[in-house]
Amino acid sequence: MKTRIQNPQLASRLMPVAQAVTLIRPGMTVGMSGFTGAGYPKAVPLALAERIGEAHARGEKFRMRILTGASTAPELDGVLARTGGIDFRLPYQSDPELRARINRGEIEYMDIHLGHVAQYAWCGFFGKIDIAVVEAAGILPDGRLIPSTSIGNNKTWLDLADQVIVEVNGDQPEGLDGMHDIYYGTALPPNRKPIPLVAPGDRIGEPYLRVDPAKVVAVVETRGRDRLSRFAEPDDNCQRIAGHLVEFFRHEIAKGRLGEHLLPLQSGVGNIANAVLTGLRSGGFEQLTAFTEVIQDGMLDLIRTGTITMASATALSLSPEGVDDFINRIDYYRSRIVLRPQEISNHAELVRRLGCLALNGMVEADLYGNINSTHVAGTSIINGIGGSGDFARNGFLSCFLTPSTAKNGAISCIVPMVSHVDHTEHDVAVVVSEQGLADLRGLSPKQRARAIIHNCAHPDYRPLLEDYFDRACRDSKGKHTPHLLMEAMSWHQRFLDTGSMKP
Ligand code: COA
Repeated sequence: MKTRIQNPQLASRLMPVAQAVTLIRPGMTVGMSGFTGAGYPKAVPLALAERIGEAHARGEKFRMRILTGASTAPELDGVLARTGGIDFRLPYQSDPELRARINRGEIEYMDIHLGHVAQYAWCGFFGKIDIAVVEAAGILPDGRLIPSTSIGNNKTWLDLADQVIVEVNGDQPEGLDGMHDIYYGTALPPNRKPIPLVAPGDRIGEPYLRVDPAKVVAVVETRGRDRLSRFAEPDDNCQRIAGHLVEFFRHEIAKGRLGEHLLPLQSGVGNIANAVLTGLRSGGFEQLTAFTEVIQDGMLDLIRTGTITMASATALSLSPEGVDDFINRIDYYRSRIVLRPQEISNHAELVRRLGCLALNGMVEADLYGNINSTHVAGTSIINGIGGSGDFARNGFLSCFLTPSTAKNGAISCIVPMVSHVDHTEHDVAVVVSEQGLADLRGLSPKQRARAIIHNCAHPDYRPLLEDYFDRACRDSKGKHTPHLLMEAMSWHQRFLDTGSMKP
């Protein structure tokens, strides 16, 4: 294990985790590694939670601001939330404990486009970053870090933080060395230069993270794999959604709007997006590429089978079986996967220029194509917007996918008016449910409504939506985007009151 820390200066900062966490004090802003459950520090947050628990038992207040790349794991978000140690959190989360506390109003949560975090940090909108806690797979003789299974905002935290704690995880595969591409050419306006990336596989930076050795106050050795949960087995609905997309892509190829190898795929987080990728494999496509944020099992499958020849992302988000496969074939994957900082993986200009096909899950869509990706009944957050906005706004084709109902049919995922807007009707080209696909390109609001109701709504809710839309067209004052405002929101209130949207 010692050989993973090859720089003598940093090796001299090696210390037990209990000692390292004394460097983190109440009120600090802490930038941690971690993105969709990958590459988060394994030991420091657990030891920190213990320290916070002790402080609270003594009646001392110990709360911090925690910034990461995206969601982490129960060993970070879960334990810190449970101790009451998180005061403020950004930019994406999916931990049940953390989510519950955010929704109870105990933790301030800022839900921000993942591609914007680095710029916000550089501009100082998050205040001073006191300390960075970053997992690495190793430290080179010159002090640079071999990144772990995610990059996220690590470059930004390492650059901006006053102090740094590095966790060197001996269980992260050594074969990760060489898989990353850290671009050091970003700057704030007016000094920005074009980013010289023209294909998903381009390497434009260096494989290692730079860190000023003078800032490294502790190095901690850890072990432990990323703790990622299994994806739900693709059900009939997922397969139908995938089938509609495949048919649509074939149609676009026939029309000459897409080539045989499509355009770089972006695939969002969650079960649906994961399952849809699996479905694409049976669509007979070849030589695809991906410019995306996370590589989930579905995408790893496509890479393993050669359907995707090159994938760019900022993190791996694999089930335990996916991790085994990744480790067993790491040399194969290293020549086909590039992991980058999220300011590059989610960069608006790159997404626009490469022409990504954005495939994201959603909570609900309304008749006009506005999308809610984050909230239940308008006030309780599920996860966060993640990178879906970076890709939806800038992709060549912005597709949102959902089963037509949730909670065993009690909720229609097609509603008169979304209870929260993450993506406006202007950023949404295609809505897909297991019922069908609505191609909204070139349609006016009323035309979009008809397409969405007819193609995507569940038959149990279709007559209700048709009835609503007909009456809205008749009685709404404005006829451009007809609505009966009070009634539109009553669908969500009805769910809150009765547990079902059905009248
Ligand atoms: N109302 C209430 N709950 C809903 C709902 C709705 N309209 N639609 C879905 N849900 C619930 C599901 O019931 C499920 O809850 P459960 O875990 O208690 O069973 C949960 O949301 C997840 O739904 P599921 O159908 O399994 O879809 P998913 O795993 O694909 O996740 C999102 C869907 C929207 C939660 C997920 O895609 C997400 O977080 N998106 C935002 C971030 C994003 O798009 N990132 C991608 C950038 S690269």
